[in-house]
Amino acid sequence: MTTRPSVAVERHLTSDDFARTLAADVRRGLTRRAKTLPPKYFYDTRGSELFERITRLPEYYPTRAERAILTAHADDIAKLSGADTLVELGSGSSEKTRLLLDSMRATGTLRRYVPVDVSDGALLGALKALRDDYPDVEMRGVVADVERHLHLLPRTGNRLVALLGGTIGNLTPGKRRRFLSAVRANLASSDALLLGTDLVKDPRRLVAAYNDTAGVTAEFNRNVLRVVNRHLHADFAPHAFAHVAVWDPNREWIEMRLRSILPQTVHVRDLDLVVDFGTGEELRTEISAKFRQESLEAELAAAGFTLAACWTDPAGDFALSLSTVR
Ligand code: SAH
Ligand code: AVI
Repeated sequence: MTTRPSVAVERHLTSDDFARTLAADVRRGLTRRAKTLPPKYFYDTRGSELFERITRLPEYYPTRAERAILTAHADDIAKLSGADTLVELGSGSSEKTRLLLDSMRATGTLRRYVPVDVSDGALLGALKALRDDYPDVEMRGVVADVERHLHLLPRTGNRLVALLGGTIGNLTPGKRRRFLSAVRANLASSDALLLGTDLVKDPRRLVAAYNDTAGVTAEFNRNVLRVVNRHLHADFAPHAFAHVAVWDPNREWIEMRLRSILPQTVHVRDLDLVVDFGTGEELRTEISAKFRQESLEAELAAAGFTLAACWTDPAGDFALSLSTVR
């Protein structure tokens, strides 16, 4: 009988903590004049599956572009960082990560992989898929909110901390600044940051990537309502909201919204909250900021990082940057 390598999971985001934070965010977001919900609540098991389907859509280029960069440069990243530990924030399915793990293994340095995600479904699925292919690598999954639990992540080894997929763009500028500074504050001088960022491009391609013809992104968008219904006993009717994706040319971000198609009242029972929506009223569910090389470098520098290398795919759609600590 062969024994399978064990997979350890530690949990900093407990179900109580999740429920408390969701309740506070939903109350704050739905009682504002311009209603919002934070995008991290898309990702229950169904939301994570819908995201994986999005990554395979013809319109959604970021995953393919980032994979192309990793295919071309994962060896460079492994050599330049010299890391023995890969800590991946918002790791999801960890699919593209295999390219990094393979290169780090080939350079002979890889000892440990630490995927970190709010979605325990995605995290456990990823670890199960990885463990047989990387039996020599210590796998330590962490269920955590990277906006709140960075200080609790394992500090062992020479770390490469990765945030792929363009997920940094889902944070508002203030949160992004705080997040990058917190990442920096938690790194040792020999650690490095690998950051995937989507780039500004033709707005028509951007909007299409967030408004696919098969309607998968629309279902992903509405999924946040299902999560609120389930956890807080709310009665959102997801299909009473239309999916909207717009490009904001001033702030250079895509905004996903849910637009009420009729006048309606939603009850959030656990919060004792009654929320009215007028016809056409919109609820912002996500921003997805797009970057330019100069602004990216400036943001990294402001957080205390020095850009060591930056690669794009051949079409120049997406950038992957490696930064060291100043
Ligand atoms: N990195 C993967 C997945 C991107 S989807 C890729 O490039 O394809 C974004 C992932 O980040 C999801 O798995 C989601 O659950 C996770 N996530 C979103 N907000 C998070 C947060 N605050 N803390 C931890 N994980 C988060
Ligand atoms: C995870 N994140 C980078 C995705 C994005 O493109 O902003 C989430 C997403 N939203 C709609 N489609 C994909």
